[in-house]
Amino acid sequence: MIVVQNVSKTFPGRSGDVEALKNVSIQVDDGDIFGVVGFSGAGKSTLIRTVNLLERPDSGKVIIDGIDVTDLPKRKLRGVRKHIGMVFQQFNLLNSKTVRQNVAIPLVLEKKPKAETEKRVRELLRFVELEEKKDVYAENLSGGQKQRVGIARALATSPSILLCDEATSALDPKTTESILQLLKKVNRELGVTILLITHQMNVIKEICNRVAVMESGEIVEQGNVLDVFGNPQHDITKGFVKTVIDDTVPESIRKSILEDNRQGKILRLKFTGISAQDSLLSRIDKTFNVETAILSATVSELQGTVLSILKVRLTGRNDEIAKAEQYIEKSGVEVKEVTLE
Ligand SMILES: Nc1ncnc2c1ncn2[C@@H]1O[C@H](COP(=O)(O)OP(=O)(O)OP(=O)(O)O)[C@@H](O)[C@H]1O
Ligand SMILES: [Mg+2]
Repeated sequence: MIVVQNVSKTFPGRSGDVEALKNVSIQVDDGDIFGVVGFSGAGKSTLIRTVNLLERPDSGKVIIDGIDVTDLPKRKLRGVRKHIGMVFQQFNLLNSKTVRQNVAIPLVLEKKPKAETEKRVRELLRFVELEEKKDVYAENLSGGQKQRVGIARALATSPSILLCDEATSALDPKTTESILQLLKKVNRELGVTILLITHQMNVIKEICNRVAVMESGEIVEQGNVLDVFGNPQHDITKGFVKTVIDDTVPESIRKSILEDNRQGKILRLKFTGISAQDSLLSRIDKTFNVETAILSATVSELQGTVLSILKVRLTGRNDEIAKAEQYIEKSGVEVKEVTLE
């Protein structure tokens, strides 16, 4: 478990100090794939680097598996770092060394016997599906292959935690997808807890179970992916969520609604799971004296759970609309009245 507790970090700069982290707290539980998302300069890299103390916080604590690492002497810190692997956006490979030699680096540094190192490297290359490239120089690999080497190298000492700093940001969408699947496999099959940072919300959507949103050195929102995606609170979060789940009412529909003078109410309905959402609206039409119109609809899958968001307009008498609304709520659907802004 990683606990970052009230961590602050300020860098001195020519045009004044930069507060890269302001009283940041997160908790990453064992088995999580925890994603931190934010725009450039939000403080994401600084945050992830405080976890293995590549960056020392000015105040606050970083506690890993119950040990306050901000307090440890250097010698003991090395021991803790062995349990933390790190993957970088630019791969950080030695270009004039082969795939095998790159993956072996952490084991060579630990002075492991040669046979043991070779066996481990073979295992790792099989895991990242790069066995046939073992003698190729790193400079001759594609971006996706380089990141597979980066991941294998990070796993060499069998860490329990993997930190990923924009691991897929230099890759095309298809390669990104395959690297995300590999990270999922690292999490599921090896039981490695992953803390990743990204500016791409689809990365969070694909593999994370928890998410924190950062802006100007602060965490503005955090929680389970399903909750945050289903009900983003902060404007920054809403913007990020919109890039992957867009529940905006199309302009032409919005215009025609604004021109329609009938009495009505616009509701945002959130369904989780494969529920009876298909028949709900037709049941309402039949049961109550209201007319329903769908203004926008999105269906996505997060963490294996289907999340559907519908914006509907109910027209009719106020008392009939109120009854219909109660009926929807009773069906286990989250209902919120919204306006067409
Ligand atoms: N070593 C440093 N010295 C001075 N300023 C720094 C240093 N590292 C980071 N900063 C500043 O701290 C702020 C946060 O930087 P950080 O690299 O953590 O952001 P980020 O969210 O990772 O951004 P990006 O998405 O561009 O990687 C920025 O304003 C940056 O310029
Ligand atoms: Mg960064």
